[in-house]
Amino acid sequence: MIVLVDFGSQTTHLIARRLREFGVTTKILYPEELLSEIKIERPDGIILSGGPSSVYEKGAPSIGKETFDFGIPILGICYGFQTVVKLLGGKVVSGKKEYGPAQLKISNFKFQISNGLPEKFTAWMSHGDEIFKLPKGFEVIGRTEHVPFAFVQNTKKNIYGILFHPEVEHTENGRELLKNFVVLCKLQTSSHTINIGELEDQIKHAVGKAVVIGAVSGGVDSTVAGVLTAKAIGKQFIPIYVENGLMRKGTEEHVKKIFKSVGIVPRIVNVEEEMLKRLKGVSDPEKKRRIIGNFYIEIFEAEMKTLIKSGKQVEFLLQGTIYSDVIESQGTKHAAKIKSHHNVGGLPNKMKFKLLEPLRHFYKDEVRIIGTMLGISPEFVFKQPFPGPGYAVRIRGEVTSIRLEKEKLADEIVLEELEKAGILKNVFISFPVLTGVGSTAVKGDGRFFGEVIALRVVESTDVMTSTWTRLPYEVLQKISSRIVNEVSGISRVVYDISTKPPATMEWE
Ligand code: XMP
Repeated sequence: MIVLVDFGSQTTHLIARRLREFGVTTKILYPEELLSEIKIERPDGIILSGGPSSVYEKGAPSIGKETFDFGIPILGICYGFQTVVKLLGGKVVSGKKEYGPAQLKISNFKFQISNGLPEKFTAWMSHGDEIFKLPKGFEVIGRTEHVPFAFVQNTKKNIYGILFHPEVEHTENGRELLKNFVVLCKLQTSSHTINIGELEDQIKHAVGKAVVIGAVSGGVDSTVAGVLTAKAIGKQFIPIYVENGLMRKGTEEHVKKIFKSVGIVPRIVNVEEEMLKRLKGVSDPEKKRRIIGNFYIEIFEAEMKTLIKSGKQVEFLLQGTIYSDVIESQGTKHAAKIKSHHNVGGLPNKMKFKLLEPLRHFYKDEVRIIGTMLGISPEFVFKQPFPGPGYAVRIRGEVTSIRLEKEKLADEIVLEELEKAGILKNVFISFPVLTGVGSTAVKGDGRFFGEVIALRVVESTDVMTSTWTRLPYEVLQKISSRIVNEVSGISRVVYDISTKPPATMEWE
């Protein structure tokens, strides 16, 4: 078993997932729990995760120095590495910052940890602090252009440190590096598969005879969660689709079609007008998410009352929450809150339901595997994700019916052009953003001052990291011209070339 010490990184659970893929058991602990765990369980290895703090700050989470006395292999990642440096007499300062891709050059291949790695590869960084001085006994294995101590080791003490993130999919050879560490821990690797029967049994066990109502949005996560639940408990599950005007065109029909295939008719609730009323005058992104989240719960509580009156024993609300939603909504003690995903952080504290979240521990690509195993058609399983709060988080500033219409039209144009170019199926997510920023244009020889639309098209599989899609220039040109010509009030289109990290995929 390998212990993962969670310093609040967005990707601690992703490290666990990678190790799970190798058939290795993991346990995620808070730093203050580590020493007693070592004494009682004697883990085979320890991984110290990244985290949002700085090791030199007062109150920054840390571990006992005794941790290094047991000879257990230790891998420090980013903040975890910096913690090792500080505890063993090195120096960490606020310094060179690196976010996103960097070229890692390996100079030392004589150790197990760098076994089989190429001389140069792309590694993803996300740090604002710099290691100024290494502790005694450490040797450099790799560096980037800006960071001389990006990958180090101390074989005598069995400690390894890396400033990049091997767990994210965009770090090339990250899996190989983690596998090398597993070998250093003297553990066997094997392959792991998801067991649908077990997932269904967990649902049956949690729910008993109660009725579950489910928020289904037509998106991949809620579709897979819904079909899985329907297969586990049949008509004890009642899917509900809320048409709030913030969803993509055709979503209602999609939802009906999906559940028809498992013999269930979803309830449809229409709240378009009321949704816009509640969003009136609201520009703050987190406030928007909370308003939408609260409204959802209100609707579901009203639905629950109606169903209970008709004799149904409703106790649970099913949600398609996945792990990236949980962690970005500050799902662990030392983690920073990035945004309140409306199916997690946007929920009010007092809810009248128990939550059923069968996909809470899975990532997007795993959810797609589960969907495929359940027999859901690829048209739904490989559909672009769409955020729970819908177009509201793609409109900077107030959401009005006019701005919503502009956003919808621009979105259709983007989807149409990507489809025509044969690119849509390879894109993880694509959308225009109404930026709220004005700029000057010349239309028909006259001055025109209109809004800037930002186009965002990204590639990802597990949502935790992403890079922008290298769209052909002619496709970019077509989209830009069509949006400026067909969507009223738009003066120009810009392409968003930010990676995640640092930028999130959505703008809000
Ligand atoms: P970010 O912007 O966090 O997006 O990099 C990652 C993925 O999550 C989607 N997203 C959401 N999904 N409720 C959801 O159900 C939300 O509040 C939410 N916010 C972002 C986003 O569309 C992308 O697929």
